[in-house]
Amino acid sequence: MSGPVLEIRHVSKHFGAIRALDDVDFTLEAGEIHALCGENGAGKSTLMNIIAGVLRPDEGEIRLDAKAVSLSSPASAKALGIGLVHQEIALCPDISVAENMFMAATGGSRKLFMNYASLMREAQAVMSRLAPVDVRQRVGTLPISTQQLVEIAKALTLDCRVLIFDEPTAALTETEAQILFGIIRDLKAQGISIIYISHRMAEIFALCDRVTVFRDGRYVCTQTVAETTPDEVVRRMVGREIAQLYPAKLDEEDRTGEVVLSVRGLGDGERFAHVSFELEKGEILGIGGLIGSGRTEIAEGICGLRPVTVGEVVLGGRRQRIRRYSDAVAAGIVYLSEDRKGSGLFLDLSIAGNVSALDLDRVTRFGLVDREAEASQANEFSRRLSIRMGGIDDPVSSLSGGNQQKVAIAKQLAVEPRVIIMDEPTRGIDVGAKSEIHRLLRDLASSGIGIVVISSELPELLGLCDRVLVVREGRVAGELGAEEMSEEAVMRLASGIGKNRQAKNAQAHHAA
Ligand SMILES: Nc1ncnc2c1ncn2[C@@H]1O[C@H](COP(=O)(O)OP(=O)(O)OP(=O)(O)O)[C@@H](O)[C@H]1O
Ligand SMILES: [Mg+2]
Repeated sequence: MSGPVLEIRHVSKHFGAIRALDDVDFTLEAGEIHALCGENGAGKSTLMNIIAGVLRPDEGEIRLDAKAVSLSSPASAKALGIGLVHQEIALCPDISVAENMFMAATGGSRKLFMNYASLMREAQAVMSRLAPVDVRQRVGTLPISTQQLVEIAKALTLDCRVLIFDEPTAALTETEAQILFGIIRDLKAQGISIIYISHRMAEIFALCDRVTVFRDGRYVCTQTVAETTPDEVVRRMVGREIAQLYPAKLDEEDRTGEVVLSVRGLGDGERFAHVSFELEKGEILGIGGLIGSGRTEIAEGICGLRPVTVGEVVLGGRRQRIRRYSDAVAAGIVYLSEDRKGSGLFLDLSIAGNVSALDLDRVTRFGLVDREAEASQANEFSRRLSIRMGGIDDPVSSLSGGNQQKVAIAKQLAVEPRVIIMDEPTRGIDVGAKSEIHRLLRDLASSGIGIVVISSELPELLGLCDRVLVVREGRVAGELGAEEMSEEAVMRLASGIGKNRQAKNAQAHHAA
């Protein structure tokens, strides 16, 4: 080994009263894949932003090849060969994939002197390694998982020696993630050093050589993956034992058979058709399927975020006329979108302002927003979801990725809905908080709310849900009851191999 490429010594960074990093150390060896773990708000992204020149540290030293360097801007970090795939997608939606990719590469690299046609070819070649995406497409038209892949492709066009991936797989499917891992292993074989951030222990143990843990902005330890275990890493992250078990499922005997939501023959004439299912009071219904199968579009159709051409939505026995999202909220259905930046949150608004945004009536008296009521609501949810923040008046943009997701959940729960549809609810949420959210969803279900969870994470789908619908090419490909569900059964329905039973047959079977 040729010694460390990158050394972080005694780095501290604060934002107002929050100490995001407190005297941390971190060492990256040449050609290793080094995982950085920690709970939501532990300081991971802050350190990566410092290494990539986006943020300046208050104190401390950064050494590259044993020489102290000043990373005063993203351009200076890039010039030194440091690349960062950001946790948050930061692409320009109005220009093409290729143009987004070139923008990263124009930091004084040789690529500037290539002609347009060869740039297009190069962009297409890099993109094609990840997914069959035409680089001439406008980024804004692409689904969120593809945007994530573009963000990765953008970093791959840089000539990096150190490449940082900040939760790259949060928005990817299993298959897409596997492709990415292959690429990361290739980069390692080329001698590139990689920092890899993820909340998924299985990924870390399959991919990485060493793992460093941060807790509350402090350095805890560094170990090789061979000498530690996922349980130990989690314990060091949270500083206590946590039960990674899913809450108990709905007892078949406790089923009331009372239907809260019934979707009948819903179609939008484009992305989905003939979608029918029922949601019982007290149950958590999972929706699985590949990315692009139409799961999100179906949820949007139910909630008035996408026009439907046929079918009906019946809530509490009454057919609802849902033309826009506010109609859905008024009827008692809320939707947590998979893309918190696009439609979930007002990033510049305070935490309290976001939590109360959907139903201002609840915190309004005599036509004025009652700040005290708003604050007590926000405090209540911050406590229930353990949101790590300075205070409820801070803007949401100041929160870490996982804590923003918690605010997005609080915002939907604050209207006390009858039905909650959640699209990838625990994306970017750390393992401890994740089981808190699962428990919260189970408690809400037990209190009589119907819950639909769309998830690409099979263990979550199977561990949390009482029943799973699998969507393929915009249709319900099948339904799996508690006894029938397995990763294999879901994948078989999702990909269309094996038996293709209609949901109705499955329901008949269920009732028998
Ligand atoms: N621009 C900012 N202004 C104010 N506070 C900030 C800012 N950026 C980060 N923080 C705070 O610093 C702390 C560390 O945040 P950071 O984003 O580094 O966490 P993280 O470990 O990446 O978490 P996650 O897993 O949720 O992404 C958090 O408490 C966060 O609220
Ligand atoms: Mg982060």
